[in-house]
Amino acid sequence: MAHFAALVGLGSYLPPRRVTNEELATMFDTSAEWIATRTGIRARHWAAPGVATSDLAVEAGHRALKSANLPLEPGAVDAVVLATTTPDHPCPATAPQVAARLGLGTVAAYDIAAVCSGFVYALATASAQITAGQARRVLVIGAETYSTILNPADRTTSVIFGDGAGAVVLRAVPDADRPGVILGVDLGSDGSRQDLITIPAGGSRERSTPGEPDPQDRYFTMQGKKVFAEAVNRMGESATALLDRVGWPAGSVDHLVGHQANIRILKALAQRLGLPEERAVVNVDRVGNTSAASIPLALSDAVAAGTLPSGSRVLLTAFGGGLTWGAAALTWPDLSAA
Ligand code: COA
Repeated sequence: MAHFAALVGLGSYLPPRRVTNEELATMFDTSAEWIATRTGIRARHWAAPGVATSDLAVEAGHRALKSANLPLEPGAVDAVVLATTTPDHPCPATAPQVAARLGLGTVAAYDIAAVCSGFVYALATASAQITAGQARRVLVIGAETYSTILNPADRTTSVIFGDGAGAVVLRAVPDADRPGVILGVDLGSDGSRQDLITIPAGGSRERSTPGEPDPQDRYFTMQGKKVFAEAVNRMGESATALLDRVGWPAGSVDHLVGHQANIRILKALAQRLGLPEERAVVNVDRVGNTSAASIPLALSDAVAAGTLPSGSRVLLTAFGGGLTWGAAALTWPDLSAA
């Protein structure tokens, strides 16, 4: 029997410390107004020292399972997929630890590394496991602690990124027309432009190169202006390709849930797709760019605000380092976020 993958649970978690633009203006050569005007960001959350990505992922995963009415016990899900740029360690992956701490038993658990596109890649992978009949329920998490990789000497990146985690549960259902079913995904990459977003050191390239690494190379770097243009183009192309495949006219999308990197990117993307700006879901003002956690955090916010009614057409799209990008389409299910 054919199976389709439906979204049946949603949860999110932000570390308690809220960092305002005003606070950052006391730490960097910047102003609260510059940050708000150029990015739309007014505050973000940063984890306390010693808090790692798995800690946030466990909280969000717990909440998503609760939202799906699933217990924290072996057999609740068949796989845990965790998208992150900031794993607890270079080795092993963070997902197995999260699965164990959630009490989910000896399930399949693996990380996805696609930077800010990570959640869409993870959703695509989890959905494929279900449609292939390899899993009945999958917990998909996007979690980040960017505050641990930001260069305190780089005002451009330090004012943009925040920490947080969001998660969804996908479940096998027999019919494609049920709300929540992932109707299609589009994924892409361009590795020839990997230098636009990178942590230069910490991997095999640095470790096998003779000489002492530059400590600065252990931080996250981004060429913001070039990334901005690529983000609008690639998310626009990916979303358009997916809409064609799914058979949705662009104008029929009720909610555009784009990667929350910059309010100007979200507005440009809506314009490019021919959608009124109000159809773009926005929470970048409150959380900043949370990379792989961005889309589930935006979904949770919209559900909590009551602005994402069941039955509405939702288009997810993300762009990030790699370069990578992707899109996914679904009709919103009837659920409450935890
Ligand atoms: N405060 C004050 N000035 C700043 C600043 C800050 N925090 N950061 C940069 N500037 C300065 C620059 O030095 C530059 O000064 P100059 O003109 O004297 O050289 C000026 O502001 C403009 O810099 P620029 O990089 O051209 O600004 P921008 O309008 O492109 O905005 C970003 C910078 C990073 C906000 C923007 O490019 C961006 O959002 N890019 C994409 C970010 C992203 O997260 N994408 C998704 C990837 S996952």
